[in-house]
Amino acid sequence: MVKAKVWTLKNHFQGFPKASDFELKEVELPKLKDGEVLLASVFLSLDPYMRPYSQKSLKEGDKMMGSQVARIVESKNPTYHIGAFAVANGGWTTHFISDGKDLQLLPTPWPETLPISLALGTIGMPGLTAYFGLFEICRIKSGDILLVNSAAGAVGAVVGQLAKIGGCKVVGCAGSDKKVAYLKQIGFDEAFNYKTVGSLEEALRKASPSGYDCYFDNVGGEFSDIALRQMKKYGRIAVCGAISLYNDEELQKGPYVQVPMIYQELCMEGFIVSRWNNRREEGLKALLKWVVEGKIKYHEDVTEGFENMPAAFMGMLKGDNFGKAILKM
Ligand SMILES: NC(=O)c1ccc[n+]([C@@H]2O[C@H](COP(=O)([O-])OP(=O)(O)OC[C@H]3O[C@@H](n4cnc5c(N)ncnc54)[C@H](OP(=O)(O)O)[C@@H]3O)[C@@H](O)[C@H]2O)c1
Repeated sequence: MVKAKVWTLKNHFQGFPKASDFELKEVELPKLKDGEVLLASVFLSLDPYMRPYSQKSLKEGDKMMGSQVARIVESKNPTYHIGAFAVANGGWTTHFISDGKDLQLLPTPWPETLPISLALGTIGMPGLTAYFGLFEICRIKSGDILLVNSAAGAVGAVVGQLAKIGGCKVVGCAGSDKKVAYLKQIGFDEAFNYKTVGSLEEALRKASPSGYDCYFDNVGGEFSDIALRQMKKYGRIAVCGAISLYNDEELQKGPYVQVPMIYQELCMEGFIVSRWNNRREEGLKALLKWVVEGKIKYHEDVTEGFENMPAAFMGMLKGDNFGKAILKM
């Protein structure tokens, strides 16, 4: 019998999550049935969506949601061999059982020089979010000027680098000087710390006096109200995330979007990366190739120890993570 350690959602979050909202439990896993596999988490992903989606889809006491790179340790399924690694949606747990339907084996061959944790970041869901959001929603063209916020994060850093590959001028902003220095190092044309600029409106105008053709929005809220007013005619806005609003208890009212959308004839579209599940392989193959060629650089923020999962999650929501937030078991 395998005993799994599991982080559960003890209380639904109210405002910003607290340590007391989580509870660590031990669960005895049953014996494997035919067709099933037993997996051990190796790296767990920390993602902003866990904040709003846990509210929507979990009950108090449920296992926290999330994905991991896991190693198959026992198998009664001929497709999955012991020792292979897969990306799974097993939640915040050390071990779990799967019937194989939700498992995605790592793209093969996986280069020896790359950490397999990248399958949760640049060569995983966040990378795909950048890829499809940029090419399908922003529909970038060479010469476009693109703005991306939360730019040093898992999605944002890939957005900026893909846009450079696509021939765009890229402006990014992030919440610390260290992150801003990194953005410049990986090829962003302009980068600034949105927390220290004083006037966001002026900083955006200084970075691109002629305005923006594309805006990849990871933040929403007030930032977007200001950015929207600097879009060029026929600008395209990919609404990817709204992390500035996820912890709000009450809906905020902002300036309304219609006037700039009409005057500038903007196209603004929200999306969820799973829309392109049928093109997952295409996206992963392209991302893997660019990483191997050194055209996309990656940075991971690794916390060690399963017991630190809630703290790492709360840290990521606050902006403590420098690059993709990952927990190493
Ligand atoms: N639509 C989809 O399918 C999809 C898929 C994946 C992710 N997303 C969304 O994409 C966004 C980025 O996700 P990620 O995984 O790449 O996370 P991430 O950027 O690696 O980490 C979250 C970052 O958000 C920033 N942040 C936190 N509070 C903020 C605030 N009030 N204002 C501005 N920035 C704030 C922090 O960076 P700073 O230091 O820069 O503030 C923090 O490091 C999230 O909104 C997420 O929900 C959407």
